[in-house]
Amino acid sequence: MLLDSYINLSYLIGAIAFVWGLRLLASPDTARRGNIWAAIGMTIAIIATLIKPISGGSNNYLWIVIGIIAGGSFGWMAAKRIKMTAMPQMVSVFNGLGGACAAVLAMAELIKYYDGAVPLQIGQLGIVLFALLIGSVSFTGSMLAFGKLEGLIKDKNVILPKHNVINIVLLIATLVLAIWLLIQGTTAGLVIASVFLILALIYGFSFVAPIGGADMPVVISLLNSFTGLSAAAAGLIYNNQIMLVGGILVGAAGTILTVLMCQAMNRSLVNVIIGGFGSAGPAKASEDGDQIVKEATVNDAAIQLFYANSVMFVPGYGLAVAQAQKVVKELDDLLEANGVDVKYAIHPVAGRMPGHMNVLLAEADVPYPKLLDLEDANAALKETDTVVIVGANDVVNPAALDEPGSPIYGMPVLEVWKAKNTIVLKRSMSPGYAGIANPLFFHDNNRMLFGDAKDSLQKVVQEVKTM
Ligand code: TAP
Repeated sequence: MLLDSYINLSYLIGAIAFVWGLRLLASPDTARRGNIWAAIGMTIAIIATLIKPISGGSNNYLWIVIGIIAGGSFGWMAAKRIKMTAMPQMVSVFNGLGGACAAVLAMAELIKYYDGAVPLQIGQLGIVLFALLIGSVSFTGSMLAFGKLEGLIKDKNVILPKHNVINIVLLIATLVLAIWLLIQGTTAGLVIASVFLILALIYGFSFVAPIGGADMPVVISLLNSFTGLSAAAAGLIYNNQIMLVGGILVGAAGTILTVLMCQAMNRSLVNVIIGGFGSAGPAKASEDGDQIVKEATVNDAAIQLFYANSVMFVPGYGLAVAQAQKVVKELDDLLEANGVDVKYAIHPVAGRMPGHMNVLLAEADVPYPKLLDLEDANAALKETDTVVIVGANDVVNPAALDEPGSPIYGMPVLEVWKAKNTIVLKRSMSPGYAGIANPLFFHDNNRMLFGDAKDSLQKVVQEVKTM
């Protein structure tokens, strides 16, 4: 009894640490501390759960320790080795494994239920089936997302004929089977439950398959919320409060992020779930034709920046690849010292994970108030002299507004072409993540400064220093 009280108190402390950690994660200045708080909460939760006696069974400490050592060392090595640019893939894998965990727990409960070892009320059975469904969808969906982000799957939009219809049929069949399993109780048997599992796994693949290019962030945040919800359901199955709270926090955060991402991409959530978006047509990699691209030299860029009244940096995935954030800040300081007003335009899906650019710029000590969100940046761009696009591509592509057939049509973008001049820093004419050509590169007031972004910016910094 006393032990139970201590365990419940530990869960409460753990939950408070999670919430406080999340609160601190809201700002780059406090995010590191937020992570530490959340980790402390998780440690308390694990210790309390280890101590908690399991009714009618042993705690199987040997297996648990083996699991902790195997999982802990894999996680530690992955976190140490993975480059910042590969972080989204790692998050996808970890997210998928979280979903798989919930599905495995649910399946274990179902095996005991059909064996007659553990009776389940209809509500409990519903929760087990929910955990199995959402966990399985999250697992296969996240693994496919990993393959796409890692570049293992070359054809990012895998679209079968009538893919939307297939997805709707799959979803309905899975849900109908769930209801049937609920009604039938133990008479349904493990074989039918396994068919349900297989359908859920296939649906996970199928709903992520057609989504590629610029729409990936929405699906990634949705999968995150699925994993949270499946963990919450597992918490209910085991009557484990901390698992429930942790799952709800992840589920809620993922759902809020999904809604924000949908707004950022101008997409509807229903379309995401039936996998019917991001497939407006095949991506056109490049169509230079007779169009002329104007190149800038390092000297041109330095003069343009030095004599501007206002400069806006637009960071993108290439900033992360080049690790150019510190040299951007150095250039910013030099320009500010010369009286130039410097700001940064942050697109919500720039880079490869939510908040990617904010994290990189915070690492370089760029003051947070200098970062403008999409709406404020678009308002300010009209008054800006020079925009420097550092390894961004899709998020500054005018095709999102002008070309109805484009896969990114309808996605709000940074309207950099409204500024007086733009300079694009990238290595070649290759497309961005969505795999489509960018007409901005051929605009009259645009210049391309080809090369690795960090290298080009270092040269521009040297030029500015001599002025
Ligand atoms: P992208 O459209 O992916 O373009 C990045 C550009 O950076 C590329 O065109 C590349 O051109 C350039 N680049 C790469 N390495 C470089 C280097 N070392 N130096 C200079 N340039 C370099 O990036 P974006 O504009 O940030 O857009 C993000 C895209 O990813 C969107 O389509 C978004 O939907 C998608 N996405 C985002 C997320 C999240 S949550 N943010 C998740 C998944 C997918 P070169 O090769 O010619 O240099």
